[in-house]
Order: sequence, then C-alpha cells, then structure tokens
Amino acid sequence: MPNSQNNTFIKKLQETCRGQLRINEPLSKHTTFGLGGCADLFFLPADLDDLALSVPLLQEANIPILPLGGGTNTLVRDVGFRGIVICLTAGAHHIDVSQGFVQAGASTQVFSRQCQRAGKTGFEFGCGIPGTLGGAIRGNAGAWGGETFDNLISVKGINLKSGRDETFKKADLTYAYRRTHFSPDFLIIEANFQLGEEDPETIHKKMTQMLSERKASQPLSNRSPGCIFKNPPGTSAGKLIDQAGCKGLSVGHVQVSDIHANFMINLGGSSADDVLALIQKVTHRVQSVHNITLEPEVRIIGEHGIENE
Ligand code: EPU
Repeated sequence: MPNSQNNTFIKKLQETCRGQLRINEPLSKHTTFGLGGCADLFFLPADLDDLALSVPLLQEANIPILPLGGGTNTLVRDVGFRGIVICLTAGAHHIDVSQGFVQAGASTQVFSRQCQRAGKTGFEFGCGIPGTLGGAIRGNAGAWGGETFDNLISVKGINLKSGRDETFKKADLTYAYRRTHFSPDFLIIEANFQLGEEDPETIHKKMTQMLSERKASQPLSNRSPGCIFKNPPGTSAGKLIDQAGCKGLSVGHVQVSDIHANFMINLGGSSADDVLALIQKVTHRVQSVHNITLEPEVRIIGEHGIENE
C-alpha cells in the first residue's frame, strides 16, 4: 500500500484503539527461531473489544494480515512481511479451566499446567509445547500421541474480511495431523475443550514423564521453531534425516541439531536464507537416501503472508 495510505491507516488505528501499534517491528523478537525480517506493522489489541474496533479499519485499508501467537513453528523470510501482524498474547489470554475455556493468546503450557492442578485431564500432551492456544489450534499441534483437536469442542473467531464473528463446532471442521483448514481470513479468538476428571497427582506423573523425555530428546536450550518437517505417514522425519547422515549439517549459523535431526537450531546471527538452504539440502539428502519427500511443518512467512498453507 502507498505510504500516504499507510500513514492514514496508522493514524486512524492509533486514534481508535487502545492497544499497542508498533512500526517496522523485527519479527526475530517474536519468533522462537529468532531470525527473519520486520513486519511493517505489529498490533497488540488491548482486549477483544479493541480488536473488534480495529476490524473495520483493517477492512477499509485492505492490508495483508498475519495472525501470530507465540511465534513457534514459524520461519520469517529475511525480507519480512508487508502488512500488519495481529498478536493476541497481551489482550486475549484468559483461561477458565472449569469450563474448558481459553482465549487464543493464552499459553498452551500454562493451560496444560492449570488443567493438571485442577484435576482436569485431556491436555497433558501440551505441557511441553511452547506457543499459544490460537497457534496450537490452527496447526493442530501435538506431542506424545495427543493433539489439540482431540478434545476440542468448538472454536470462535472473527472473519476479518466480513467482520463477523463465527463459531465452528469440531464436527464442522476438517483437520488432520498438523493440519487444519480454517479460512486465511479467520482469526481464532476463543475455544472450548472437553476435559475429563483425574487425580492431579496422576496427571502430574504423566506430565513429568513427557517433559523428561522431551528434555532428553530435543534441543530445548537452543533457538528453534520446533520440528522443521512433518512426519511422513508411518515414520519419523527425525529418524529419516538422522539415517541420511544430516545431524550437524549446517549453512551459515544454522545447524541440524545433534540431539534431534528434525530440529534446526539458530546458533546466533542466522538468516532465513540459511535455513531455507539447509531445508533444501536436507530434503535432497532424504530424497536420495530414502526416496521420500519431506514436507515442511514450519510456516514460512514471506512479504505477502504465509507461503505454505
Ligand atoms: N529418532 C532418531 N534420530 C533423531 C530423532 C528421532 O533416530 O534424530 C528416532 C527416535 O529414536 C524415535 C523416533 O525417531 O525412535 C521418533 O522420535 P521422537 O519420539 O522424537 O518423535 P518424532 O516423531 O521425531 C514427534 C513430533 C514432535 C513431538 C514428539 C514427541 C512431529 C513432526 N514431531 O517427533 O513435535 O514433540 O513427536 O511426541 O510430529 C513439533 O511438532 O514441532 C514437534 C517437535
């Protein structure tokens, strides 16, 4: 959008909304990988009313929108994003475990821990998954045999094109392993989960086991987006990459982890171009050794938005 139009939109948003609007915001600060370029605009609505006030302005400006939660599972290209990022972590992070209710900006790990304390079972697998519930729902995140859609009842969001609230029951939604089919215009704002009852101590034991396995098998002290590739049906991408001899392979300052081969770690000062080159290298090696084409799990964000949804 031309600069003058951009400035009018910025002014209107600042006058109308109470939330924070940042200009030229480095997305390296908002992604667990810690690399990539800037977003033209980065908006943190103060609450859901504030978000609702922004919607007509967003519609009028017709500016590309990127919802961002905890910035996990995300690779931002070095050129950054020419639009506005909407992040609900500051303004919509309420959790009510007794009702199985969450807002999209709430932390997946915090929800999981609160469920444990309240003796609610069904979300143990989330105890080690970083990021927000909005992101976990969108990507149907999972671990240790559980996934976000398992106990989901319904998802409420706002359609940023029409400006209308929409609620979907799980039965209305199509989803699969690490995949959902929400419209790109749909911004998740709230969800309900069906949780069972169990002794908190028993849930705690399950979670401790999951966390210690995670700690032993994943490079948690390094910056990464989580797993880079989806598991091909019936096998583990990490195992295939390992067998193809890729552990330790690097481009620039990004490296295939020695601990788990489906993680690429940012050793400091890496660029998204390095990561993309390493993804290509690993994909070729796995293709030539196993004759299997790996598909990235990580969302790749370019100038105009998500490139691989
Ligand atoms: N393996 C290797 N070498 C490696 C990595 C794994 O041989 O470098 C072997 C393991 O020894 C094991 C098998 O591969 O026999 C499976 O490994 P793991 O248990 O670590 O599971 P995964 O399939 O590699 C999945 C999810 C993880 C999730 C774990 C635990 C995907 C792409 N990955 O990994 O999710 O934490 O299970 O449940 O679905 C993520 O989605 O970002 C993620 C990290």
